Amino acid sequence: MIKEINTLLEELQPDTLKEKAKQLEDMLETEKLEALKLIEELSNIEESKEIQNKYFGKKGFVTKIMKYMGKMSNEDKPLLGKIIHDFKVEIENNLKNKVGHLESLAINEKLLAEKIDITLPGKGGKIGHKHPLTLVEEEIKEIFRRIGFTVAEGYEIEEDYFNFERLNIPKEHPAREMQDTFYLSEDIVLRTHTSPVQARIMDKMHPQLPVKIVAPGKVFRRDDDSTHSPMFHQIEGLLVDKNITFSDLKGILLYLVQAIFGKDRKIRLRPSYFPFTEPSAEVDVSCGNCNQEGCRMCSYTGWLEILGSGMVHPRVLEMAGYDPEEVTGFAFGLGIERIAMLKYGIDDIRLLYENDQRFLEQF
Ligand code: PHE
Repeated sequence: MIKEINTLLEELQPDTLKEKAKQLEDMLETEKLEALKLIEELSNIEESKEIQNKYFGKKGFVTKIMKYMGKMSNEDKPLLGKIIHDFKVEIENNLKNKVGHLESLAINEKLLAEKIDITLPGKGGKIGHKHPLTLVEEEIKEIFRRIGFTVAEGYEIEEDYFNFERLNIPKEHPAREMQDTFYLSEDIVLRTHTSPVQARIMDKMHPQLPVKIVAPGKVFRRDDDSTHSPMFHQIEGLLVDKNITFSDLKGILLYLVQAIFGKDRKIRLRPSYFPFTEPSAEVDVSCGNCNQEGCRMCSYTGWLEILGSGMVHPRVLEMAGYDPEEVTGFAFGLGIERIAMLKYGIDDIRLLYENDQRFLEQF
């Protein structure tokens, strides 16, 4: 029908207008019905543009008629105006509605494709837990809190004076070789043990009694293999008071060992040497792996070495201002890694510092 309409439009002259108008109206009516059907059947927005263009584009007849009307007299204008207006409005409205409908279909389809199922169980965040070294440190602190010890802290960067001198280890003393030291300067070191806390806490407490503390923390030595790390953790214990004897030390060590490892464990004290204790003892716990039958873990001795201890050396008490004739004390120092490795059966100290989830999850 478009062809016919166009032909008619070309032939349109002012004097034939009235006569042709009726004909044009019929043609447009037919074209309209066809167009409405096409619109109805549209399945995508691209196609709608074709229709839009066909009628309202530069060469579309609606545009042509509008242009033509511009040249008409005011009196004749309504003749054509009404006919084309009805066509224009109806097609435009239907097209607009159809496009709106197609658009919302497209949005729904997109939403459906991107839908997420909020009822699916989530992946969840993993809740971590304390590191085995923290667990052991906290356990030991708690064991000592129960019998009236308080927790003290010292410095990781320590003066040579507290790390050695105040512990009866003068310069050039061969005992310094037991602890290969990181020196930061001639008289500042990374502490090689927690024992300097003994001197610091006595300085702080003097002349009060008792001095009754445990002091956990990091210590540093130039060591690195499967059982030694250049940084590790110790807990120092110190009890200074009147009438403290070696049997008090032994009793507390047994209490400690049985609290950590179980009531069935025994301890053994071997004579040893530390410049800041006299007498000194190395303390072993009976091997729980083999019930002292002898196994790889205890090197077939039935005993596991766990700490160093002794009665506080009179010189150490003296340097802190206490009178060794009146006051005595004991001290001990244990390695937290060592206890953790024995308690949990860990055979390589480096596992404790790698922070591998698969390892840490086991505690
Ligand atoms: N400080 C010693 C060490 O690191 C352990 C120790 C502490 C020994 C207290 C006796 C008394 O080896």
